[in-house]
Amino acid sequence: MAGMDPIDDAALMAAAEAARGAAHAPYSRFAVGAALLAADGTVVPGCNVENASFGATICAERTAVVSAVSGGRRRFVAIAVAGPAGIALGPCGLCRQVLSEFSPDGSLRVVTRDAAGALRATTIGALLPAAFGATDLDAAAKP
Ligand code: THU
Repeated sequence: MAGMDPIDDAALMAAAEAARGAAHAPYSRFAVGAALLAADGTVVPGCNVENASFGATICAERTAVVSAVSGGRRRFVAIAVAGPAGIALGPCGLCRQVLSEFSPDGSLRVVTRDAAGALRATTIGALLPAAFGATDLDAAAKP
C-alpha cells in the first residue's frame, strides 16, 4: 500500500480485524489481529500464533513487528489491535516493550476498541511510561 494516502483509525482497525482471521489460537480460543502502519504507508498484519508449549506463543502485535522488521521496515506510525468482541483489549506488557523499541519517543499511535466496539486511540508512551530503552544501555557505567 506504499504511496497511498495514510489510512485512518477505522481502516487500520479493519485491517487488524482481517488479520484476526489468520490467528492460530486453538488453546485460548482468543483470536487477536494487529495491523501495523509503517511510515511508508505499508500496513503489516499480525495475528497471535499459539503453541502447544504455551510459553512459545507470540501475540498479534509482536508478530506484526517481527514481520515488518523482517521486511525492512522499522519506522511505524500506528498499530491497531482487534480482539474478540465485547472486551476492551490493550497490548500486553511484553508487546508494549517491543513496540517501544521502535518508538523510543513514545509517539506510536495505538488504536483499540472498547467493550462496546468503539475506537480508542492512545500512544505507546502513555501505555508504557518510563520505558526501558536503548538510551539506558548507553548511559550505564561499563566496568
Ligand atoms: N494476545 C494477543 O495476541 N494480543 C494481546 O494484546 C493480548 C493477548 C494473545 C496471546 C494469546 O494467544 C491469547 O491472546 C490469550 O492470551
